[in-house]
Amino acid sequence: MTIEEFRSLCSALAADAPPRIAGAATLDAWTDARNELVGRTAGRLTAIMSTLGTLPPESRREAGQLANAVKVEIERLLEARQLELAASAPAAPTLDRSMPARASWHGARHPVTLVIDEICAIFRELGFTIALGPEAEHEWYNFGALNFPDNHPAMDMHDTLYLGEGALLRTHTSPVQVRTMQAYPPPIRVLAPGNVYRRDFFDATHAPAFAQLEGLAIDEGIGFVDLKATLNEFARRFYGGTRRTRFGPSYFPFTEPSAQMDVEIDLGDGRGTRWVEILGCGMVHPAVLENAGLDSTKYTGWAFGMGPGRIAMSRHGLPDIRLLYDSDVRFLEQFAE
Ligand code: DAH
Repeated sequence: MTIEEFRSLCSALAADAPPRIAGAATLDAWTDARNELVGRTAGRLTAIMSTLGTLPPESRREAGQLANAVKVEIERLLEARQLELAASAPAAPTLDRSMPARASWHGARHPVTLVIDEICAIFRELGFTIALGPEAEHEWYNFGALNFPDNHPAMDMHDTLYLGEGALLRTHTSPVQVRTMQAYPPPIRVLAPGNVYRRDFFDATHAPAFAQLEGLAIDEGIGFVDLKATLNEFARRFYGGTRRTRFGPSYFPFTEPSAQMDVEIDLGDGRGTRWVEILGCGMVHPAVLENAGLDSTKYTGWAFGMGPGRIAMSRHGLPDIRLLYDSDVRFLEQFAE
């Protein structure tokens, strides 16, 4: 090869390179252009350099400088173009727009809270106010004042945690009856919702802590007919007018006579309607009135106690009471109003 031929190869490459580099529109095209122009194995510059040895020795120095100048210029153009392309390339996506949105949860009242609130609203319309009592209760209020004789078998169902010095976790809301009668003179009409505690296994039908709702009405001349009329009216409002109710005999130490009220309910299990006990009730035992400081020859009254958890279960056909103790939002949101 002659130096003239070498010069023309170099100037052809120098002329071709700028449009070739400027025409690379992507980083991939830029890589192709670089390989084609100055690639170590198959690039045009490498091909030109490989002819150096065929030049006459006195031309080699000039040829080497010429080829190097072309190489420096091409590399400068390549670098500038690479920076341009990198700056304008769209950034790698950091936001995955295909990801499903997290559904927002707006909260829902617990089915037991809903039952308690509804029952309270109904009894408020019937003239009752709300009364509250302590969950850590004195033995006397929980048992003695309510006419449980010492060691009576009725207490077997009411085993609980004893806190010492006569205090225990109350086993029912009935102590609020006594506290209310001590604090307010008759006429009394109160509803006492609250949590109670018992030594029960946590299984499908029992829980060691659960809600109760107590009702108490005390006045002069109150009889069993008032109890029946009021509780029937409650059932009519809570369950709807067509639901039948029935009363049957029962036993509680603090009421005499004692009864239970059943409501005919369709539990939605395909087995039609069935009688479901929803509460215990009765005429307040004269001993309880006296223990609370009321004259039992002047005043009479009636009381009831029910489990809003049981009512929520029958209302929704829940098969297991433990569902009520699960704050899983997928369970709770079914009851959102
Ligand atoms: N305290 C009773 C219980 O926990 C329920 C109860 C029954 C309350 C009859 C009453 C009542 O006020 O009259 O089993």
